Amino acid sequence: MKNKSPFDGSFPGALQGPGDETPSYLKLRGVIENLSRNPGADTVHYARTRGDQISLAQGEGDTPTPAFIADAAVKALSEGKTCYGPVLGSDDLRQEISSYYARIYGHQIPTNRIFVTASGTMAMHLAITALLEEDDEVVAITPIWRNLLGAVEIARGRIREVPLDEENGLWSLDLDRVFAAVNSRTKLILLTSPSNPSGWVMPESQMQALLDFARMRGLWIISDEVYGRLLYDRVRAPSFLDVAQPEDRLFIINSFSKNWAMTGWRLGWLTGPAAAEGAIRDIALYNMMCPPAFPQYGAIAALRHGEPFIREQLEMWQKNIDILMEYYARCPRIVAARPRATFYSLFRVEGEPDCLALTRRLIDEGGLTLAPGCSFGKVTTGYIRLCFAVSESRLRQAMERLVGVLGQ
Ligand SMILES: Cc1ncc(COP(=O)(O)O)c(C=O)c1O
Repeated sequence: MKNKSPFDGSFPGALQGPGDETPSYLKLRGVIENLSRNPGADTVHYARTRGDQISLAQGEGDTPTPAFIADAAVKALSEGKTCYGPVLGSDDLRQEISSYYARIYGHQIPTNRIFVTASGTMAMHLAITALLEEDDEVVAITPIWRNLLGAVEIARGRIREVPLDEENGLWSLDLDRVFAAVNSRTKLILLTSPSNPSGWVMPESQMQALLDFARMRGLWIISDEVYGRLLYDRVRAPSFLDVAQPEDRLFIINSFSKNWAMTGWRLGWLTGPAAAEGAIRDIALYNMMCPPAFPQYGAIAALRHGEPFIREQLEMWQKNIDILMEYYARCPRIVAARPRATFYSLFRVEGEPDCLALTRRLIDEGGLTLAPGCSFGKVTTGYIRLCFAVSESRLRQAMERLVGVLGQ
């Protein structure tokens, strides 16, 4: 049995990559053999075979890391900071993250609650590995960043999706649906806010209500807050840190990737209860040994001097949002709201219920690669995600291609 869709057991028209059939003598663990395909990755793979493409399918901007960050890492590299370091990151970086929390979030988070990881993705794996037993259920608020679902599968957990509601492109959560999805096998609630892909931002009142419920039922919460600084009307999004106590059953995933254009650096952090520090250190030791040494110096510079860069990026993307809306207005079949957080626009096209067929058509006929919504959960099977964190000219070119295929 090969990799099937997480959503309905089949994946009509899935964009297949090479090496899909493992010979039986190379059989791997069952859970790996049956791992759900990632339709977003399949789409990118397919597009690579199709020549001239503009890709807005990726989850990153096209600005390189600013020089003040790169220089700090280069200096450390040239000074020979190239050895193994502490498993959960250098004391200096943990302290700098703590200061950042105090400055931007107004919370005192001691360093024994801050675990530096080789990427936000790694932070996610550490938290999920620490918590899940085989067949534990995970309530995931979807649409959600696909990797979170993949990590649960690898950890042999079972995913129960609770979909957000969408009206005129705006997303909202009915918390009662989350409460109703929890049963005696549920171990944790998984969410991303601000959300990749929908841009939904969980209000603080809902965070409080969800935390109260989780406390009552003995559940963990994993909140992915990687996009917590990418808002167009506020300095930061609400965080579970605003409502939680230090010893709550809570992990928060964070990353240097998006705020400071550092996706290739592979650095992130996990915030959790101090009592989990030893366990997370043990898993991290076996998993990554330690985060990379000299990039941590760049990360310190990012936290210390990186606020103007975040503001500049947001100003640039705000202009891109205007361009996006201008093109959407030319194509009345597109249903989308003005993005208020992240650098994604999640839209649907009336009369186009199959996101895989549409993404394939955009690739084949328009030379435009976008991410199919089914990557992010059942609820977004009819949606497409576009990343607008690119130069204005590239965005305009891409939008011309989109409108060209969809018609005005
Ligand atoms: C919600 C979310 N969390 C985490 C990550 C990954 O972060 P990192 O690059 O640090 O692995 C992404 C990347 O797209 C993301 O969208």
